[in-house]
Amino acid sequence: MLKPKKVIDAFKKNFPGVKFSYFTSPGRINLIGEHTDYNGGFVLPAAVDKGISLAIAPNGTTKVNAFSMDYGEKLTFDINDPKKPAQQWACYIYGVVQEMKERGAAPGGFDCAFGGDVPLGAGMSSSAALESVFGYAINTLFKLGFKREELAKIGQMTEHHYVGVNCGIMDQFASLMGKEGKVIRLDCRSLGYKRVPFNPRGYKIVLIDTMVKHNLASGEYNVRRAQCEAGVAAIKKDHPNVELLRDVSPALLEQYKDKLDPMVYKRCSFVVKESPRLLAGCRDLAKGDVPAFGKKMFETHDGLSKDYGVSCEKLDFIVDVARKCDGVVGARMMGGGFGGCVIAIVRSGDAKAYIEAVQKAYKKKFNLDPRVINVAISDGAKRWNVRKLR
Ligand code: GLA
Repeated sequence: MLKPKKVIDAFKKNFPGVKFSYFTSPGRINLIGEHTDYNGGFVLPAAVDKGISLAIAPNGTTKVNAFSMDYGEKLTFDINDPKKPAQQWACYIYGVVQEMKERGAAPGGFDCAFGGDVPLGAGMSSSAALESVFGYAINTLFKLGFKREELAKIGQMTEHHYVGVNCGIMDQFASLMGKEGKVIRLDCRSLGYKRVPFNPRGYKIVLIDTMVKHNLASGEYNVRRAQCEAGVAAIKKDHPNVELLRDVSPALLEQYKDKLDPMVYKRCSFVVKESPRLLAGCRDLAKGDVPAFGKKMFETHDGLSKDYGVSCEKLDFIVDVARKCDGVVGARMMGGGFGGCVIAIVRSGDAKAYIEAVQKAYKKKFNLDPRVINVAISDGAKRWNVRKLR
């Protein structure tokens, strides 16, 4: 997380003399289970020690005065204005407030300054961190009574209604529900979840950012979702109990191979294999069999790249380097795709060599320096005691 002093200084500069509260909410990693959330399947994310930090004070009006440290921009909007702000970053804040009002709550206006250290566009959910920190802070300060799970839905619906990304629930759920040292095995249909300790002895998580910025709003993400829904609609005609791809087994999908549009079939074939793979992976982890889990990460990558079509040349390149490195038990692209980073599980003693191998090969091939992102699995959204921050 950013140093609190930075955020506090930004707040004081913009709102001199105003007393404030302080909140943070993290980005996330996801070990396995990609593009399964909006299909009602399983995911295995964890909150990390990087995210968005927010200094905020209710101001007794219906106006929000917000300063974004990352954009160096300040703007004001009225929470009752039917039109969303022009700046995308402000739409997240505006959207969270509208979604709360939609659910019968009455938040008021506030002054705020916020900034983050989750790399933007790296597939670590900086936008979910933003929705979650505002959701959690507004809920707390205006005593709105939403549970953390509901705040996750408020964040997800903000994406749908005010940003235009028809995302699943994984990122917001992880940002709000994460706990230090634990990954969350989440059933995205029921929202039933289990927190599982993840600290395999002798292994490290290594994230390497391709530096290719993705923007899910660019449309391909929504196209994938629509392709999954098209598959469901076709199968549902004969099997009315099928609501989501979660309900379709690989064997059932096979029966539709010739009836579905070939592209729709390809997309669905990845999804129906991914949730069972995750569940098998959880059994590996429970037995302490990290190499077996890692193998599944590579399989997930292959599916995301070849069948789901959400990887890119640079992501594939890093994963291919990883396959050849000693001690890398598993690696794959992480998050929505089209750029962002590769998550790998690496034997601790081999992590340095893996990073150097990627850096060298990447420089040679693309003349670019990939970024290594260090993360620790940490707590979800929280309020900090301002007096203890100094
Ligand atoms: C993005 C979305 C999530 C999820 C992932 C892919 O991060 O916000 O809901 O669909 O992509 O697993």
